[in-house]
Amino acid sequence: MSLMEKNKVYIETYGCQMNLADTEIVLGILQNYGYGITKDLNNADVVLLNTCSIRENAEQRIYGRLGNIKTLKRTNPNLVIGILGCMAERLRKDLIDDKKIVDVVVGPDEYRRLPELIDTAFGGDKGIGVRLSKTETYDDIIPYREDGLMAWLSVMRGCDKFCTFCVVPFTRGRERSRSLQSIVEEIKQLSRRGFKEVTLLGQNVNSYLDGQNDFADLLAACAEVDRSIRMRFTTSHPQDLSDKLLYTIAAYPNLCNYIHLPVQSGSNRILKLMNRTYTIEHYLNLIDKARKIIPGVSFSTDIIAGFPTETYEDHLMTLDIMREVKYDGAYMFKYSPRERTKAFEMGDDVSDEVKTKRLQEIIEVQQKVSFEINQKLIGKEEIILIEGFSRKSDQFLSGRTDTNKVVIIPVDDNLKPGDYSKVKINKATHATLFGEFVEKITPDKKLALTA
Ligand code: 5AD
Ligand code: SF4
Repeated sequence: MSLMEKNKVYIETYGCQMNLADTEIVLGILQNYGYGITKDLNNADVVLLNTCSIRENAEQRIYGRLGNIKTLKRTNPNLVIGILGCMAERLRKDLIDDKKIVDVVVGPDEYRRLPELIDTAFGGDKGIGVRLSKTETYDDIIPYREDGLMAWLSVMRGCDKFCTFCVVPFTRGRERSRSLQSIVEEIKQLSRRGFKEVTLLGQNVNSYLDGQNDFADLLAACAEVDRSIRMRFTTSHPQDLSDKLLYTIAAYPNLCNYIHLPVQSGSNRILKLMNRTYTIEHYLNLIDKARKIIPGVSFSTDIIAGFPTETYEDHLMTLDIMREVKYDGAYMFKYSPRERTKAFEMGDDVSDEVKTKRLQEIIEVQQKVSFEINQKLIGKEEIILIEGFSRKSDQFLSGRTDTNKVVIIPVDDNLKPGDYSKVKINKATHATLFGEFVEKITPDKKLALTA
């Protein structure tokens, strides 16, 4: 242990928010074992990349980065380089055989073994841990978190949905939930440290189950810990979004009126090929119902352009659904075939040129919709959580509404990061709202204005 105490670990995180949360778990485990944490790559004894496999270009980026990091071994031959996360799980030993520079490969369910596997690498062997688990939730691990306002907290792991395009069920294994009690305890700690926003994470949070407690129960329990912490959650699958959950969101002012509800495609034929298990009609009904139960609720989505066999008509249906739902935001991707998935067997018949064109049209529609939604907010009041200075100037503060929109206001003596403020919107682009300070909101008041 005494030698180990001097070792420093550096980590870079790629991909989704789940990986950000996992990185904090990894650092928690390593710190517990005696590691120091460094943000300086050149000062590190262990360099870890927490990786993403969701699309081919995510992996390409990481290979590029590995190429850079390799050069560090010239000056520090003892440096241990490790790949964590989805790429580690997907490529396993190949990463060591192909990329001679990798010493440690650890998948998402084996992080407890990291200290041991890194020691193996220090001893000159390769450290591999890629078994998936049906039970691992890292329930008892205290993640390493820097002070701040916003925290990620994973409440369930894995995915059992098997959408045909998605590699996640193969890289992150089966669904399992953390205990409600341990999650509530962690939020209490975050509250004591002054955090103001917590995002509950899971590939499919609505499948959360701990004994009799479902995801709505969990959200309610979390919301009650500290009314000045606002809670978000992601991702919801349209199949499992229950009425109970909608009523729970409506009942608690500190549960954000914002649901990330990926539709993926506007064509029922494509949805079926994707194994998404809902139709557009079902999806639209759900949106209608949510809007009735939660006044002012906003939605975001994920869209895939160019899934196998997608025709121009299918694509137009996707544009239609975007215009119909009017999402506040969208994450938009070109389809990327992933080995082992069902869609991989369907070929990849939409050319890259066509995918690019369709994606461009999808982005344009979303920008237009976002612009229109934001224009309608001019003259209205919103409540924002002040996060800090705006990116461009320390004359301005930046915050977000509970519907996740960025609002920029002039600096005000009354306000500091972590405060809630009522603001009046007076200008809007498709991406940003601009406003002015109205009044500070005390935490026990409601944190959202209902429309
Ligand atoms: N190609 C393109 N996009 C994908 N996604 C998942 N798998 C793929 C793939 N093979 C997108 C989906 C999902 C989001 C996290 O990533 O839209 O909701
Ligand atoms: Fe992938 Fe579908 Fe599971 Fe989301 S719900 S992680 S897209 S398989």
